[in-house]
Amino acid sequence: MAIGSSNSTFFERAYSDRSPKVWYGFSRPIYHNLMGLLFGHRFSKSQYGGMIRHTEAAMLSRWASEIPRDGCIVEIGCYGGLSTSYLYLGASKKNGRIFSIDPFDSDLEKQEDLTDQAVSLDQKPGMQLVRSRLDEIGAGDKVELIEGYSQEVVKNWDRKIDFLWIDGNHDQALQDYLDWAPFLNPGARVGIHDAHPRYGIQLVADDARKIFSTDEWERLDHVKSIIAGTRKT
Ligand SMILES: C[S@@+](CC[C@H](N)C(=O)[O-])C[C@H]1O[C@@H](n2cnc3c(N)ncnc32)[C@H](O)[C@@H]1O
Repeated sequence: MAIGSSNSTFFERAYSDRSPKVWYGFSRPIYHNLMGLLFGHRFSKSQYGGMIRHTEAAMLSRWASEIPRDGCIVEIGCYGGLSTSYLYLGASKKNGRIFSIDPFDSDLEKQEDLTDQAVSLDQKPGMQLVRSRLDEIGAGDKVELIEGYSQEVVKNWDRKIDFLWIDGNHDQALQDYLDWAPFLNPGARVGIHDAHPRYGIQLVADDARKIFSTDEWERLDHVKSIIAGTRKT
């Protein structure tokens, strides 16, 4: 993979961010914080048991609203549906469709083997609960929940994707990207959660750097623990 020098500079700056979060720092923190204040409080984090910050939630909605008309979003790692709901808010502006993959509360023994157990397996939200949350906000068939594992679901996948959001097993962010990359449309966005050494997980940050350091990316962005970019057209 060819390393793009501009992308290397991006990572040096993004990953060395130690500055006060509002006034200084890399990647438009004032803009992201403002977006978070305005658009990142629609759903209750505590009620959903969600794991995204208000700034991240607002930017997810924003990016989802930037897909082409009738576009497709794939989310790996739904949990209680918090990020899914924010994705829906944005995607609905483009009549977009979201496919969100998670084992939910199925076969917990299998989950012990196949997930990193970053979330407690006790009282994990079930698909029905998430479905009802999505129905309450009118998502209907615009959000399809898929009970399963990204690495299994991809084997039967056949749709092009405009936004791939990776927030599943933290041990396999790179593998998730490699599995799903063949389905990305030109100009598609990829976002990876927990991909910053300070706000996320070092292993995921290392994976994100490997993914986005090639010269096939543009519009790289860093929003707290998220690193995102769009594929060049
Ligand atoms: C950090 S949580 C996702 C949080 C959610 N995106 C949010 O912001 O509300 C990670 C979820 O990914 C699920 N998961 C783990 N491995 C997975 C895989 N291979 N495919 C799909 N989901 C997976 C976990 O069970 C868990 O529910």
